[in-house]
Amino acid sequence: MTDPIRLGIFGFPVVHSKSPEMHRAAARALGIALEYDRFEVAPADLAAEVTRKHDEGIDGYNLTVPHKETVMALLDDVAPGARAIRAVNTVVRTDDGYVGHNTDAPGLVRSLEEAGVGVGEARVIVLGAGGAARAAVVGLAEAGASEIAVLARRPEQGEALVESLVEALADHVECTVEAAPLSEADWHFDSATLVVQATSATLESNPRADEFAAMLPIDALPPDAAVVDMVYKPLKTSVLARAEERGLKIVDGLGMLLYQGAIAFEMWTGSAPPIDVMREALRN
Ligand SMILES: NC(=O)c1ccc[n+]([C@@H]2O[C@H](COP(=O)([O-])OP(=O)(O)OC[C@H]3O[C@@H](n4cnc5c(N)ncnc54)[C@H](OP(=O)(O)O)[C@@H]3O)[C@@H](O)[C@H]2O)c1
Repeated sequence: MTDPIRLGIFGFPVVHSKSPEMHRAAARALGIALEYDRFEVAPADLAAEVTRKHDEGIDGYNLTVPHKETVMALLDDVAPGARAIRAVNTVVRTDDGYVGHNTDAPGLVRSLEEAGVGVGEARVIVLGAGGAARAAVVGLAEAGASEIAVLARRPEQGEALVESLVEALADHVECTVEAAPLSEADWHFDSATLVVQATSATLESNPRADEFAAMLPIDALPPDAAVVDMVYKPLKTSVLARAEERGLKIVDGLGMLLYQGAIAFEMWTGSAPPIDVMREALRN
């Protein structure tokens, strides 16, 4: 019998993560021996714990909040996409050591493709300027979007995000990326083909989620525009509900979660991920 593939997820907290169930279900379906554990590690202990797992020869792992950025200094190499996003959510053991990747960005793109939303030549609005927004900008720019406007409630946060990405993207994409204050959203909505909601404002824990949706000029969007919300708790967020009322195409955040995991699974196992099995595991 071969040794199982040993994997896990670092987070703080990590108890809520569905990644273990998703990857275990995928491995079971394919008859692959695989162990996937939760590693609840405080920020101050991350370096020691990651080093320990590397010494033990762990095959790979995921990282969630708050470790995606700090782990980069602990790795042997970081893939260019993850370097541009400045966040690693997936680590793979290779002959050259532990290499960090970001599968959130291609995960978002695949979830849009699966939903039939065109990304090539898209005119995109990204709401928010945190880590998820950054992944969205890199993923969509690299997938062929023609224009991206980053709308942040603190304009300086949006400007810093765009400024830091210009150099990372300039040599390989032809996409105009600009920042604007969220208060000027009206200017951008009437020509957008895709809105990516990447703030945490629509989380079910935010009692003002409806207020956030109500202040967006969703009515100004063209009728063939699509709206995706990265938040998946709830699945139908306040922003998606408003977009649906308008008859626009909507995409929830579960697809991105699924595909970031599916891409990681393929990196670790070399096997095509059983998408439907993984989706079912996330829904339970
Ligand atoms: N589906 C997936 O696989 C996936 C992957 C990654 C993230 N996500 C989701 O994406 C969300 C954002 O994640 P993140 O890592 O980017 O978080 P983050 O780094 O904390 O950034 C959150 C952003 O949202 C903005 N924001 C929060 N409340 C707002 C409001 N009421 N109005 C306007 N802007 C507001 C923040 O602005 P301030 O800095 O001014 O507060 C910041 O720009 C999370 O809720 C997470 O659930 C989903």
